[in-house]
Amino acid sequence: MKDIKKAILRGIPSEIPAKRTLNKNISHAPKRKDILNKEEKQLAIRNALRYFPEHMHAVLAPEFAEELKTYGRIYMYRFMPDYEIKARHMEDFPHNSKQAAAIQMMLSNNLDAAIAQHPEELITYGGNGAVFQNWAQYLLCMQYLAEMNDEQTLVLYSGHPMGLFPSHKDAPRVVVTNGMMIPNYSKADDWEKFNALGVTQYGQMTAGSFMYIGPQGIVHGTTITVLNAARKIDPKAEDLSGKIFITAGLGGMSGAQPKAAVIAKGVCIVAEVNPRATYKRHEQGWVDEVYKDLDELLDRAIEARTKKEAVSIAYDGNIVDLWERVVDRNIYIEIGSDQTSLHNPWAGGYYPVGMSYEAANEMMANNPEQFKKEVQKTLVRHTNAINTLSKRGMYFFDYGNAFLLEASRAGANILNEKGDFKYSSYVQDIMGPMCFDYGFGPFRWVCASNDAKDLAITDKIACEVLEEIMLNCPADIKLQMSDNINWIKAAGENKMVVGSQARILYADAQGRIKIAEAFNNAIASGELSAPVVLGRDHHDVSGTDSPYRETSNIYDGSQFTADMAIQNVIGDSFRGATWVSIHNGGGVGWGEVINGGFGLLLDGTADADRRLKSMLFWDVNNGISRRSWARNKEANFAIKRAMQMNPNLKVTMPNTADDSLIESLDL
Ligand SMILES: NC(=O)c1ccc[n+]([C@@H]2O[C@H](COP(=O)([O-])OP(=O)(O)OC[C@H]3O[C@@H](n4cnc5c(N)ncnc54)[C@H](O)[C@@H]3O)[C@@H](O)[C@H]2O)c1
Repeated sequence: MKDIKKAILRGIPSEIPAKRTLNKNISHAPKRKDILNKEEKQLAIRNALRYFPEHMHAVLAPEFAEELKTYGRIYMYRFMPDYEIKARHMEDFPHNSKQAAAIQMMLSNNLDAAIAQHPEELITYGGNGAVFQNWAQYLLCMQYLAEMNDEQTLVLYSGHPMGLFPSHKDAPRVVVTNGMMIPNYSKADDWEKFNALGVTQYGQMTAGSFMYIGPQGIVHGTTITVLNAARKIDPKAEDLSGKIFITAGLGGMSGAQPKAAVIAKGVCIVAEVNPRATYKRHEQGWVDEVYKDLDELLDRAIEARTKKEAVSIAYDGNIVDLWERVVDRNIYIEIGSDQTSLHNPWAGGYYPVGMSYEAANEMMANNPEQFKKEVQKTLVRHTNAINTLSKRGMYFFDYGNAFLLEASRAGANILNEKGDFKYSSYVQDIMGPMCFDYGFGPFRWVCASNDAKDLAITDKIACEVLEEIMLNCPADIKLQMSDNINWIKAAGENKMVVGSQARILYADAQGRIKIAEAFNNAIASGELSAPVVLGRDHHDVSGTDSPYRETSNIYDGSQFTADMAIQNVIGDSFRGATWVSIHNGGGVGWGEVINGGFGLLLDGTADADRRLKSMLFWDVNNGISRRSWARNKEANFAIKRAMQMNPNLKVTMPNTADDSLIESLDL
């Protein structure tokens, strides 16, 4: 530990370290586009050399030129630390500020080789979700965090540590901005160019904000989605039991579907065209059974539905073959969706039907035009099968993967008479009205002791708090409460922890505040051995403006504005957040979303108690007020309740115009 502390405090070494070889056993980022002209490449190298004393330049300049040529980026591999980067007890990080130590723990978790997608390129997830642009930024940032005190704030511009600035003890210790562009320079190729120049990065939703906690978040979110989908079609349903959910994809995020559906007690059939992905998920226990024979698979699913058995079944093949067999056999399916990577349709996100996985890959590389045609033909057949089953009563929803968009571009029969999509997205139908509008969203915490015993204590405390609130909560939110109570009771058993000792659940403002308060008290009393970091996914009530996802159930036209996310992060910063972040780009792409978040260290003090109450109340109710102003009735209900709880909250409420009056106008 002493050596690690010393290395962190040293920052960028004063002598050139030995050259590093890349680890062949881990995944590496793909070569990025060669987008810079000669002068821009020179600029990129000048930019990179700014981090190093002049005596190193003669060695580093050609090396960085080579990196730029080979990888399309300058990662400065030579400066990768030789210690293992991972979450540790916060006291194991050198520090003068406990808050800064906790931030070191969190950012180290995002770069842990067991967690990060491309750790040596500092990418946590999503292919391009970066913590830093290069290793010099990492070294400098860790050094600043190790040195800083509680009267300073570290300023990070897209991974670049601009420096420590004097502030005060109630200010955030770190302010993060990622990918903030002048709006006209926010196209996908602008990211390629300015990232290659080393002046911006793609922070995703929790990568560049140090708040990623591994696959747990996605399993929980998917569980909540399928539970609420079941209730949407069957008001008597408590969960997914006795229902079949068909979908596709056993990849990064999509692989959570079978596990989540089983937690929700349903029958889940998932088609996956890549046998490696299928068998990997099977070995991991995320999918229970694998079939190649469609009839055997469907018979098994029907039997499980009749017995109300919770089981996940993978089809080792193409989703379209599966849907078409369901149509032919006239089997009733309750719920359908899709999580192939249709945001990336021409480069391996979606595979055409009627050919093997290998043959499709070969066509993609050697005959991309034909591949594109095959994808589009497949999308037409895919949509036809879904349309037939929907007419027979199936509920289909888009899972934020651009299925509807790409199907429409392929000319499939996916639009209704008004020219809108025939189906809704999961946020429009489920997460928006059933969760976000009530303030329920992905609240999370991490035990700074890095000790599983502390996590088990926090699980117990959170469960008790939610059970207590549930005794008197309004009927409208009872099911949301009980879902999360069930989740937290089973959380230990489900063994979802990878990396830091973290937990996630959905709670509203009241739930989040009461849980945080109880943790703070448990730290003060010594029941918990060390502080706890609070945070959340940016995919939440108030944190994200994204017209086709988080704010897709806003219908007053303001879904194309980003005031909410910006207000949120500013508001969090002066109400006590330990760090705040605001990003351009998340799951839906650069220029398509603005999203922000926070981290808050609970250390058992009265200061932490004051901060958590002020900040969490704002962090949730900002978004509810905006959703209420957009005339969403669930948010209207929630914000009135919040005003009753806190007389200092006074929100502008919308009046509703009579439809017949509006329709009678001569416009
Ligand atoms: N889970 C969520 O909450 C969530 C939220 C928003 C968006 N998404 C979207 O879901 C998509 C999937 O994400 P991911 O991380 O799992 O991607 P991924 O690329 O890792 O996985 C997709 C899988 O689909 C498989 N596939 C492609 N075409 C197929 C076909 N025709 N039949 C059967 N299988 C096929 C691929 O082989 C791959 O394994 C992305 O577009 C993502 O943005 C997910």
